[in-house]
Order: sequence, then structure tokens, then C-alpha cells
Amino acid sequence: MTQDHIFHRTLRAHWPKISHGRGIYLYDTEGREYIDACAGVHVVSIGHAVPEIVEAMADQASRVSFTYGRFLTQPQIDLADNIVAQTPAGLNRVFFISGGSEATEAAMKIARTYHVETGNPEKYRIISRWQSWHGNTIGAMSMSGRTAWRKDYGPYVQNFPHISPPIPYHCAYCQRHGTCTLQCADELERVIHQEGAHNIAAFIAEPILGTSAAGATPPPDYYPRIREICDRHNILMIVDEVVTGFGRTGIEFAIQHWGVTPDIICTGKGLSSGYTPIAATVTHERIYDAIYQQAKSFVHGHTYGGNPLSCAIALAVQHYVQQHDLVARCAQMGELMLAKLKPLEEFPIVGEVRGKGLLIGIEFVADKESHAPFDPALGVTARVVDKAFDQGVLVMPGAPGLIDGVAGDHIAISPPFTVTEEQAQQVVDVLAASIRSVAGELGY
Ligand SMILES: Cc1ncc(COP(=O)(O)O)c(C=O)c1O
Repeated sequence: MTQDHIFHRTLRAHWPKISHGRGIYLYDTEGREYIDACAGVHVVSIGHAVPEIVEAMADQASRVSFTYGRFLTQPQIDLADNIVAQTPAGLNRVFFISGGSEATEAAMKIARTYHVETGNPEKYRIISRWQSWHGNTIGAMSMSGRTAWRKDYGPYVQNFPHISPPIPYHCAYCQRHGTCTLQCADELERVIHQEGAHNIAAFIAEPILGTSAAGATPPPDYYPRIREICDRHNILMIVDEVVTGFGRTGIEFAIQHWGVTPDIICTGKGLSSGYTPIAATVTHERIYDAIYQQAKSFVHGHTYGGNPLSCAIALAVQHYVQQHDLVARCAQMGELMLAKLKPLEEFPIVGEVRGKGLLIGIEFVADKESHAPFDPALGVTARVVDKAFDQGVLVMPGAPGLIDGVAGDHIAISPPFTVTEEQAQQVVDVLAASIRSVAGELGY
């Protein structure tokens, strides 16, 4: 047990303490340097301790940090304008909250309110995908398909349907037909028929997978087909861009890779690059207008939603990204880093290296032919992550059970967009050494 009074999320004998960060580096109080190659948890897009952001923070704090209720503030208005300039056309209404789970919960309530106000009060259920993750609050968890993280909370979880995730490396449909038949998208239509469109309010998905299978990217026709199915059944299309939003995949929002316009976008992490807790749920004008045709208010909100200090900080971060053209840089460094990591597929335990922009995943398999996973008891993910950590490189352990909720090992690499070629090479070298060492331990 540690001597502190923190309610820890896990027990460890030793917790290093971080004293400060600079750029893509973190430093602990014992003088160790770490490359933050996962941006904390896919958050820090512009690097740590950027002076312009610290100045903006102090400037706003010296004016006013908190307002509520009937007031607007200029940072809130300006940040909403900045976000809307980045989203697909029509997504014009920004609802501010403090984190990703609140963003997806807000989307759920917006979808519900839309259907209530447009004469379909029986529509309330949300379809999502197995293994997906939309957050830790009960509504968000009900929408999530990651059984490993919700099993103890089962009695609270809503009975919402799930469909197969579009992970090409594991697609049972593709393997059966030898080519992509989009049956994973058509599964949405089947589940809608099975459950009854009359009670389905929305479908929610991470456009490119984040923590459940970092970098897994559905085929080009996937989201157009999903959009068409949603429209046919009056089901709203929500994209969860908490990980992918604000440039992480080399474009402002990952759904723009498919040219599809969703009804609602949930954002979080990259909005403030971790400089303050803030998130935003962005809604199509059509949905907003329909709600306010009848309703007098949207009955939802959180105390810190849209506070001027967080809005000013996030605005400074977005200005910094735009002034330094960091989304284009993310695309360019992402391609470079993926090309450097791809050769790791030569290792006998690496099944696939995949990704878009600076959201890259490496999956480990026991058998490269069949794509069979390791026995989870071997702890392959943790072994690789720990070996990289020991060499000063932070990568994210992928959530357990990539394949079936139980088995499937993987890690994510998602450094700040400011990573240099030399730093990217250092990360690749450490990962190669770590994977080689784990393969040796496993007898490969
Ligand atoms: C895709 C996605 N949505 C929502 C969330 C929840 O965000 P938060 O932890 O900020 O509540 C996460 C968290 O990692 C996520 O990956």
C-alpha cells in the first residue's frame, strides 16, 4: 500500500511522480525522462508546457474563471465559432461539457430529446459496436460494447444492442468471402429489424477505433452505408471523436476521411490538448432546430460546462494548432511513423501495424496465419508496455479483449503532433527492442 491518500485505480508498489513536462517529454522527480508517445491517453496534441497556452490561461484567470446560467462569455462564443469552422457543414451547435463521457451522454440525451420533440417518444435505445468505448458514466457505458469494463456494473447498464466492429484484420465476413462485402455495416440494418426501428434513437461509433483497437480503419464505403441505413430508419448517426477529433488522424475530424456528415459529433481530449478538462458535443442545425420547434429548453447540463477559463484555454490550443499547421503535420508525421513501424510486422508475434495520422496500433498474435490471440494470462500487452516504459517510452496498453472481449493484445502509439523524425525513430527503436525481448520470453 502507498502512504498517500489517493483512491488508486490499481495497486502498485511504486508510483513515479511527474514534476514537469516540455514538448513531447515528461520528467519525474527522480530525474527520469520519458517520451510521451501516447500523449497521456491520446490527449496532448501540441506538447507539454507551451508558453502561449500558459499565458492565455493566466490572462483569462485574471479576468474571470467561472460564470454560470444566464451569461455568455466571449471565450465561449469564440471557441464555438472555432469548432464549427472545423466540423462538417451543418454541424453548427456546440454544447460544452468537461470530458468525453459527458460528451457521449449529452449526445444520447440530444438524440432522445430530438425524437421526443418530433413525435417519436418511443425511440430511446442506442446501437453501438462490440468492444467500443464511449465512457465510464452509466449511459456512456451502456452504449459501450467493452464487456470487460462493464461486467461488474451490469445491473445498472441499459439493454442496448451492439453490432460487430469493423476491424478488417479480424472481420469474419471478409475472411469467409475473401473480400469486403460490407456485411459488418449491413449488420446494423439486421439489428434494427430484429430490435424494431421504432425504439432505436441513434447509432454511435468511433470513426477510427481508439482504445479498443487503435488505428483500425473501416473500408471506404462503410460510413456512407451506415449513414444511408440510419436515414432510412430515422436513426441519428453519432460519431464519437473523443480520441480522433481535432486532428489526431491527420484531418480535423476522422469522419471527414469518408466525406460523411453525421448528426452529432462528440469530442474531448484534443480540444484542449490536456491543458484543461473540456469537451464539446456538436449537433447538426437540423436537429437543434427540430428540438426548439417545440421545446423551451434542453434539460441537461453540468456545472463546469462552458466555463470561460476552460474555453479560453481550449481556444488558445486551437489557435496554436492552426497557426502552426499541426493537423497537416500530424498527417505527415503519421505517415512517416507508420512507415517506420510497419517493418515490425516481421516479428513473429506482431499481427498487424495499422493507423491513420498519429493514431497507430500494434496488435500481437500467437499465430500469424490464423490471427489467433495469445492466452490473456500471458499478459503480452503489459509486458511490451512495461519494457518500453523501462526504456523511457510511454505507449498505451490497448484495452483487454480486442477480439472477443476476453482475448486480444495490442498497444497504441499516439505522440503529440509536434514529434520530430528523430524522436519518432527513438520510439520505434525502443518498441522494436521491447517486442523482440517479449517474443524471446514467449519462446518465439
Ligand atoms: C472514444 C472515447 N469516447 C469517450 C471516452 C470517455 O472520455 P473521458 O474519459 O474523458 O470521460 C473515451 C475515453 O478514453 C474514448 O476513448
